[in-house]
Amino acid sequence: MIQLKNLTQLCLSIYVIAAFSAQSLAQEAPNYSKDVAPILQEKCAACHNPEGIGPMPLLTYQQVQPFAALIHDRTSKRIMPPWHVDPGIGIQSFKNDASLSNAEIDTIEAWVEAGAPEGNPADLPTPITFPSGAEWQLADQLGPPDLIIKSSPFDVIANGQDQWWTPSVPFAGLDQERFLKAAEFKPSYPLGKKVVHHGHAVLVPEDGGRQVALARYGVGKSWEMFPEGTGMRVPANGNIAWNLHYFPVGAEGDDDVVEVGLWFYPEGQQPERETVGEAMFRVDGLKGMARGQDIVIPPHGYQVLQGTHRLDAPAVIHSYRPHLHMRGKVMTMEAILPNGDKEVLSQVNKYDHNWQIAYIYEDDVKPLLPTGTILQFTSVFDNTANNPINPDPEQWVVFGRRGVDEMSHAWVGITYINEEQYTQAVAERRAQQETLRIQ
Ligand code: HEC
Repeated sequence: MIQLKNLTQLCLSIYVIAAFSAQSLAQEAPNYSKDVAPILQEKCAACHNPEGIGPMPLLTYQQVQPFAALIHDRTSKRIMPPWHVDPGIGIQSFKNDASLSNAEIDTIEAWVEAGAPEGNPADLPTPITFPSGAEWQLADQLGPPDLIIKSSPFDVIANGQDQWWTPSVPFAGLDQERFLKAAEFKPSYPLGKKVVHHGHAVLVPEDGGRQVALARYGVGKSWEMFPEGTGMRVPANGNIAWNLHYFPVGAEGDDDVVEVGLWFYPEGQQPERETVGEAMFRVDGLKGMARGQDIVIPPHGYQVLQGTHRLDAPAVIHSYRPHLHMRGKVMTMEAILPNGDKEVLSQVNKYDHNWQIAYIYEDDVKPLLPTGTILQFTSVFDNTANNPINPDPEQWVVFGRRGVDEMSHAWVGITYINEEQYTQAVAERRAQQETLRIQ
């Protein structure tokens, strides 16, 4: 018990107590070593490392501290990590969710507001080793691919301009028709990871039959894996039409080769459900108009476009990947059911053309839609100066394949099923939900 002899001592004691509690508050503020480094390691470092696609490494306090304010800005606006689906509406459970939780965003904010302290390096998490970009991401689950197809080599020039490379390469390696289970699109590493913006590999069968998109890629989307019992029919012969869009910024190299790894169901096995993989749903030029004809965005203005598609068979939706360009801001996918109920399935509300993210639904929330459902897509374009990546708000903007022109469609991973499979799938989903409710 402290004896207070005089006023001076009283004041001194109060001062000491105040100083002490200020210190304990400071201790409560998050610090880098204990609180922030684990978040950055888990959610950022895979790209923000010296070989990754992020512009700067974020692996040590010395690297992170100068970017503290910028990190706060990008994370609080949910621009980084790249995951631009609206967290407030629609399905929220995804196989490839890369987003930060609200608690993680708050931790980063409190850390930056406290002056971005380092804390005690002894509290740092054990460093992790990143899977090299040279490895197949699906190999952990599926082993090495059954077949690898390669584009012909391309010399990449670092001129910061769009470059397209569209070689046709014979498809070899299968001696009979097979069913695809998974595919992964792998640019070379490290060069290709930095310079291949998007692309696809489409099999054009020898007999002139339906073309099969084996793999579609965008920065943010590199693989596709169908659920057990679902596969895509792949004929044995034909040519691969590669369509590669390079966007080199400061990186160059000769003979760049893109690979696609393919995993099949065993020979002779036909899965119960045959999928078309990602299908294009247009949000432009419908009702007899030429594609893209209705995209006309005025200078300093906005445009909203809507596209509706009736499902002529029941369907399961696996994934959602909007495709707009630099003025595109929002794309919403809604289902209008035959009974009139309307539901937002997903909404990307922070679309950023630098990223082509496929939002892959968890199996137990994949939309199961009856025949007659209308899928309705709504795109919003912002050609004002408020749009940070708008190259020139003075321009009228129309349809075109350059990033400065516009597009408006969604790639939707979809499997059409028959009525019997639909009834069964709905019953299974109900039973699952029932079990969840009881637990
Ligand atoms: C999938 C790869 C990837 C992940 C994961 C990722 N980033 Fe990024 N980051 C990028 C790329 C590429 C850019 C540059 C292009 C852009 O801004 O979209 C970038 C840009 C940034 C910028 C802006 C840099 C500048 O100079 O403008 C910040 C800040 C940032 N990231 C922080 C983070 C943080 C913090 C995380 C984790 C919470 C994170 N990033 C996760 C790839 C990634």
